[in-house]
Amino acid sequence: MNAEDPDFIRTARASYDAMAPDYAAHVPDGLAARPVDRALVTAFGDLVRAQGTAPVADLGCGPGHVTARLDALGVPVFGVDLSPRMVALARRTHPGLRFHVGTMTALDLPPETLGGIAALYSVTHVPREHLPALFAEFRRVLVPGGHALVAFRTGDDDHQHLTERFGHELALDCYWYGAATISTLLAEAGLHPRARTLLEPEGDGKRQRAFLLARKPPREG
Ligand SMILES: C[S@@+](CC[C@H](N)C(=O)[O-])C[C@H]1O[C@@H](n2cnc3c(N)ncnc32)[C@H](O)[C@@H]1O
Repeated sequence: MNAEDPDFIRTARASYDAMAPDYAAHVPDGLAARPVDRALVTAFGDLVRAQGTAPVADLGCGPGHVTARLDALGVPVFGVDLSPRMVALARRTHPGLRFHVGTMTALDLPPETLGGIAALYSVTHVPREHLPALFAEFRRVLVPGGHALVAFRTGDDDHQHLTERFGHELALDCYWYGAATISTLLAEAGLHPRARTLLEPEGDGKRQRAFLLARKPPREG
């Protein structure tokens, strides 16, 4: 743990470390049961492959099922997650794939190295005031023409502080952004919106989910 990490990083890391095995058991493969999500991840993979051979980073990869799905599609991919326990679990589950501990807010990557970024349900733990820097980081590491697929449970830009899940004590902040909020911030960071898909809530008390696809402009000429 880095003492200089901002609070939202330290609390998200500690919370996911506390619940990693239970979280993974609860969502064994979030894509297997969700054909629409799978189709969106597949379309993203197709777009990245059509652009070149630069790899995809699955940011906030959790147990690694999106990383594994992209790998199965023939996309060069690795996962990054804040939680060392989540990364250990992803490595055990997918021994042939690469997973790194790190924060998507400060990636240990040179500029213009990624053909794509998948960030599914991880921006939820980044406070509003840190989003412009996060999306500037996305733009920095993407190659020109690279795509970002950002998914999240939506809300009215409201906030929730979770103190318990699966019987574990947590201090996890969740920011429920509207699709328009994230879309606007991506565009302001120079990632141009290409598609916005809203998936209606799957039951009482569930939230709508948004998948936003954005692209860093290709180099001219
Ligand atoms: C709700 S889980 C989603 C996991 C996976 N993307 C999925 O769709 O199942 C959120 C994940 O994001 C990670 N996370 C949260 N903030 C992060 C950050 N700043 N950088 C990297 N990972 C982060 C958490 O550790 C957790 O594993």
